[in-house]
Amino acid sequence: MRLVFLGPPGVGKGTYASSISRIYGIPHISTGDIFREEIKKETELGKKVKSYVEKGELVPDEIVIEVVRKVLLSEKCKKGFILDGYPRTLKQAEALDQITKIDLALNFVAPDEVIIERVSGRRVCSKCGAIYHIKYMPPKVPGKCDKCGGPLIQREDDKPEVVKHRLEVYRKQFKPIIDFYRVRGILIDIDASDQAPQVIPRIIEALKAHGFPPP
Ligand code: AP5
Repeated sequence: MRLVFLGPPGVGKGTYASSISRIYGIPHISTGDIFREEIKKETELGKKVKSYVEKGELVPDEIVIEVVRKVLLSEKCKKGFILDGYPRTLKQAEALDQITKIDLALNFVAPDEVIIERVSGRRVCSKCGAIYHIKYMPPKVPGKCDKCGGPLIQREDDKPEVVKHRLEVYRKQFKPIIDFYRVRGILIDIDASDQAPQVIPRIIEALKAHGFPPP
């Protein structure tokens, strides 16, 4: 099963992808996570993308496309994948079409005020990347990851002014991408305005209805 998760920053793509990845046994590939990891390790790629990510700008297409091509053609994606945060431009969607066939594109939708509340309360584990929310998905011990005990931090690009800019960038780009998958008949809209325990069964139902029941 080859899935693409679309939607604005903070709608919950990473949260849902992590559950669906566990349930279906396919890897969760997040371009944002890849870039944050490379920045942390101060690699050549990390140095190239740092300023874009910190300002909430899109990383240039040619860099992102190469990263995605390498991952999707690797052994770990042979049985399928969930691609989260890609494509973000029409050029990226067209490049993806050349790399592999996508079965379904899930478009997560929620009102702006919900998204802003989610982003402002997000905390992530600095060691394993697990996602929390101070109100909706709090860790058992404040400031500590339930999975690995690592310290929880706020993402650099979750500062209010950067979030605002990321939303603007999203609004400028998303329409042609949604249309790209809608005309191919593989786009599914998912209402993501409720809490995650309600949204995840909705995703599974939609996947089942399109011929992909959980294993
Ligand atoms: P990226 O990491 O992809 O960021 P994003 O798309 O902006 O998405 P987020 O990670 O912010 O949100 P999410 O939807 O995954 O929400 P989450 O599950 O965490 O990209 C970062 C940057 O990298 C970009 O700005 C760009 O610079 C660069 N980049 C990446 N890909 C690129 C590309 N293809 N091209 C060019 N540049 C690229 O949830 C948010 C919060 O809400 C969490 O706290 C969570 O606990 C909570 N939550 C989630 N769901 C619910 C729910 N249903 N109810 C209540 N709370 C919830």
